[in-house]
Parts: sequence; C-alpha cells; structure tokens
Amino acid sequence: MLVRKGLIPAAGSGTRLGPFTNAIPKELLPVGDKAVIEHVVDAMHLAGIEEVVFVVSPHKHGLSDYFGSGKRFGIDATYVVQDERKGLGDAVLAGEHVLDETFTVVLGDNFFAPKTFLKDLIDFHIREKADSTIGVAEVEDVTRHGIITPSGNRIIDMVEKPPVSEAKSNLGALGAYVFTPDIFDAIRNTKPGYKGEIQLTDAIRLQIEEKKNVLYNKINGIHIDVGTPKDLMHANDWYLTHDSE
Ligand code: G1P
Repeated sequence: MLVRKGLIPAAGSGTRLGPFTNAIPKELLPVGDKAVIEHVVDAMHLAGIEEVVFVVSPHKHGLSDYFGSGKRFGIDATYVVQDERKGLGDAVLAGEHVLDETFTVVLGDNFFAPKTFLKDLIDFHIREKADSTIGVAEVEDVTRHGIITPSGNRIIDMVEKPPVSEAKSNLGALGAYVFTPDIFDAIRNTKPGYKGEIQLTDAIRLQIEEKKNVLYNKINGIHIDVGTPKDLMHANDWYLTHDSE
C-alpha cells in the first residue's frame, strides 16, 4: 500500500510570534532558507506524498501565495479554509472530502529533522496494519502535548495536555500522525474537550474505546514546536549548524 495524501493544519493564530504574525502566517517564518512549513512539505515529498491539503484560516492568503499549485515543491496543493478555530480535530475534518484513503497529518508550525522521520512513521503504519499511528517522543513538558499510555506498541489511552500529576507516561504526540478515513467518524463523534475545542486526541481516544488498532511509533531526531521567538531561534540555530537534511 502507498500513502499518497497528506494534510497540514496551518490555521493557528501565532500570537506569541507577533508582531511578525500580524503580517504573515507563522508557518511562513523562516527556518534557514525556507519557511518552517516547507520543511514539512519536504518531509511529505520525501515520504512519497503526492497531494497535500493545507488547512488555512480565512485571512491567511500567504500560504497559497507561497505554495501555489505545489508543482515547484513536487506536490499537488489543495487549500481548505477552517472558518473558526475549533481545534485540531476540526481542522483535520475540514480535509475529509479530499482524504478518501490512508493519509498523514503533520502540523505546519513544527520543525523536524532528519526529514526521513515521516517516511519511517508511514512505513511503520503500513507494516503494522494500524488504523491510526501517532508519532511520539519523550517530552519535557507533558502539559503541552497529547500524552499516551503505552502497552507494547499500542496506545491504550491518550489524554490531551494532562496536569503533571495525571500523566501516565512522558510520551507525547509530536504532531505527526497517520490515519485511515475512519478517523473522520471518530472526529464527528467527538465532543469539545480541552479549551472547548474538538481535540484530535479525543477522537483517537474514541478509536481506542472502539478497539481500533491505534499504535505509536517513536520519532527520533530533533523536534521543535515553533511557537515563540525563542523556538524560532532554536530551530534556525539547529538548522544552520547541521546538515540540512
Ligand atoms: C497539538 C495537539 C497535541 C500535540 C501537539 C504537538 O497541540 O493537540 O496533542 O501533542 O499539538 O505539538 P497544540 O500544540 O496545537 O496546542
């Protein structure tokens, strides 16, 4: 089986990176010689993804100016507007009409290296015949991530941003996933949770309750959630002092 489609949520407000984000989407801030989101697109291209759905907010024209048809980046680009910020689950649901086969999701404001991380995640998903695969790593701050309860390579529970005292592990979702279209039913059945938003974590939890094959795979290498000026500096510092691939 080949995984040919991907979705990149890129509708966040980026307030912590203001005033830059008054003018451009945070996903277009540079890490080295390209926008942070282009590194994600590169990883998708390297993993064999041909069609990428960008989920943007109504006022974010910059992304379609940057990627256009996608041809120059080796992909077919489609843009879907998320009218209101109703959570990551809702952002993924916005791509349903295009994502009619197994697909990957990678957050557009996260920097990963080496770029082979996504191919590895997809290969694992296919090999293990998973329904959903969540890319995780040991995280320093469990209150910033979806935290899994692992058992073998399965996930038996997952909680969005738990308090430290309630975290069942330090394995947190890094923002890279592989799903089958089954996730859309789970999202539709998910009620607003953390921050009153439709959380992808809660949809995954529903799949676990339904005894779906929900697995995790560790992502090795570097991961930086580019949310603040310090994160942006860190990502640039890393990229400019290492082999860029
Ligand atoms: C999202 C997800 C969370 C995940 C994180 C990774 O949170 O909801 O489960 O661990 O991305 O960065 P956000 O960073 O959008 O608040």
